[in-house]
Amino acid sequence: MKTAVLISGTGSNLQALIQRWQAGGSAYDLKLVVSNKKGVPGLLRAQEANLPTAVIEHLAYPDRDHFDQAMDACLEKHQIELIALAGFMRLLTPWFVKKWSGRMINIHPSLLPAFQGLHTHKKALEYGVRYSGCSVIFVDDGVDSGAIIDQAVVEVLPDDDEARLAKRILAQEHIIFPQALDDVARGKVRLTQGRALRTG
Ligand code: GAR
Repeated sequence: MKTAVLISGTGSNLQALIQRWQAGGSAYDLKLVVSNKKGVPGLLRAQEANLPTAVIEHLAYPDRDHFDQAMDACLEKHQIELIALAGFMRLLTPWFVKKWSGRMINIHPSLLPAFQGLHTHKKALEYGVRYSGCSVIFVDDGVDSGAIIDQAVVEVLPDDDEARLAKRILAQEHIIFPQALDDVARGKVRLTQGRALRTG
C-alpha cells in the first residue's frame, strides 16, 4: 500500500519504518515523507533512504484548514493510500481526519487513554504510575482518542527521569509501530465501528 509518513522532528520512528520496509516483505510501501518543519533530522533519514520528501510548513498557511489542504494535495499527487504519523506534532482538521479515517495511524508515547497530548513522560512520572508505554491508534478527530491497534507496556523504574523513561518507551515504539502499519496495510486490522478489529 502506498504510504506516506508525516513527521515533525527526529524521525526515529520513521527510521524504524524504513528499516522494516528496506528489509523487504512489508505490506506498506513507503512513497513519501512530509515534514511540517524544514531542516529536521527525519528529512535526512528519508533522503538517505532515497524517499521523496516534502516540506509543508504550517507557519506558511493562514490556518489549519489551508495547511491540511496543502498536505492533502501533496498526498493525492503521490497517490498515497495510507498515512503514518511518526512524531507529527500538529492537530489535524476534522475533514482531513474523516477523509483518511481507517487509513491514518499514529504512535503515541503512553498507554492510552492515559496521558493524552504532550509531555506524556512527565505526566506519567508525576502521577506515579508503575507502568507506562506506547500505543498505536487509528487517528480520529479527538486528541489521541482513536481506536487502539496495539500497545507495549514499559515498567517505570524508581530512578527514572523523563529522558530515561522516554528512551525505553521509544525502543518499544520502534517495534510496535512498523508491525501495526504492516498489519493495517495487510488488512489484518480494520477500523470497524470505532474499534480496531483484528481479522488475521
Ligand atoms: C515519539 O516518542 C512519538 O511517540 C511522539 O513523538 C516522538 C517522536 O519521536 N509522538 C507524540 O507525542 C504524538 N502525540 P521520533 O521523531 O524520533 O519518531
